[in-house]
Amino acid sequence: MFYYRQLILINFFLVYLSASSQHSGHLKPFGSSGPFEQIDKLTNDFPDPILFFENYAFKSHPVLFRQVLANDLYLSLWNKDKKLKKLFLNNKEIVHVETRKKESRKQNILTMTMTDFLKRYQSEELYLVEEVPKLVRPYFTLPKCLQCEPAIETFQVAMLWFSSGNTSSVVHTDDYDNINCVLQGEKQFILIDPHTYKHVASQIIDNPSGSFSSIDVDRVNYDKYSSLDNDIHYYQVNLTRGDCLFIPALWIHQVRSSDRNIAVNYWLNHARVKNAVINQNTCELLKQSNLMTLDTITWPKELSNLEGLQDFMFDLIDEGATSFKDWTREFSKDLNFDLHSNTGIITLFAEFFNMIDTNENGFIAVNELELLLDDNNNMTAAFEILQDIVNLIEIKSGKDVQSNNQNIDEILSGDETEKDDDINLKHEDL
Ligand SMILES: *[C@@H]1O[C@H](CO)[C@@H](O)[C@H](O)[C@H]1NC(C)=O
Ligand SMILES: *[C@@H]1O[C@H](CO)[C@@H](O)[C@H](O)[C@H]1NC(C)=O
Ligand SMILES: *[C@@H]1O[C@H](CO)[C@@H](O)[C@H](O)[C@H]1NC(C)=O
Repeated sequence: MFYYRQLILINFFLVYLSASSQHSGHLKPFGSSGPFEQIDKLTNDFPDPILFFENYAFKSHPVLFRQVLANDLYLSLWNKDKKLKKLFLNNKEIVHVETRKKESRKQNILTMTMTDFLKRYQSEELYLVEEVPKLVRPYFTLPKCLQCEPAIETFQVAMLWFSSGNTSSVVHTDDYDNINCVLQGEKQFILIDPHTYKHVASQIIDNPSGSFSSIDVDRVNYDKYSSLDNDIHYYQVNLTRGDCLFIPALWIHQVRSSDRNIAVNYWLNHARVKNAVINQNTCELLKQSNLMTLDTITWPKELSNLEGLQDFMFDLIDEGATSFKDWTREFSKDLNFDLHSNTGIITLFAEFFNMIDTNENGFIAVNELELLLDDNNNMTAAFEILQDIVNLIEIKSGKDVQSNNQNIDEILSGDETEKDDDINLKHEDL
């Protein structure tokens, strides 16, 4: 009897030992305890597109670009809210703002103007995640490693991330290749190679439809996520103002930020990256004076060909966006233009929508879209309507951009007349 009890105790102890994780990172922040892998690093200037695609993009290999924006003419625009408040003063464009700094995929998303956001973000839990607003697109130069025609073709969208710091994302993967650049503050990235550790992604990305993990990034339970064993190597990459990081599509990653924090990321369409033909013959680097800024890239990329449009529409239905309202919102996003803001344009868009909605119930179903695609004449007609809309929008936005451009020199040169700290900043930055 006595021995039997002792045996049970020993047994309990053994079970306890084997169940409690041996990993030194147990219940600590994601990736914080290593072991670590060294990331490739290039300093002072982006590589040219040929080198970037051959060594990194085609191979899905991450790389850190240190201080590549240090000489960017407009980097100092982001130094102070004062400059941004001036710039956005009468701007009515709406941005989307998350309300949880520790990311939750179930949270309220607010919409507001940049002016409102700038007023509120220091005192409230707000995180702006939005395509770079139209007003500031002239001040973003596409990274030099994308500055030739077939490389630009892979570019999808540039997103702006703006908060007062202390944000943390979930562990997730993206379908896009991503060049993430820090304009203000510090960002910390943790990356795991999904090709070396195939089993890790399949275990930890436990919300496959949203490509994210329910891991608590502040307290990782290594018992629950047993694929994260001692053999898994992490890349820990800290970015500061002027640094950029290339994160290949499907790489597992998690992001934290500290201090007043502004970043831009350039998302590249992974299918187009894989198929891009980038070599001495196809890719002539644009001259410094002709570098593409975000406002000069012809939008929309996705809707400018029939195939892209089809994919876009199927994706919308997949994501549950099927009503007229959903479609106007999503097309507005992709076209960078609020379709409702112009009667002529929204009428055309209604015509486009109704061509697909054959049963006229106000929603578009997969079978309706398939019907349309089966019928060449109807599909061409629908595409032509969309082209008309795009043309109208281009005419309208051409005007907007011109009226903005005068502002910036005033705002940046305004530094000179301001107090000492501003003058120092200007000398250091410009
Ligand atoms: C930063 O965020 C964490 C959650 O990720 C929270 O627990 C902490 O209180 C925040 N710190 C500050 C200073 O707001
Ligand atoms: C990155 O920053 C964090 C937080 O400040 C720090 O603990 C860590 O050691 C840094 N990692 C590297 C590789 O510099
Ligand atoms: C194609 O267009 C014709 C003529 O407008 C219409 O009768 C037909 O229903 C359309 N088919 C589809 C699949 O939309």
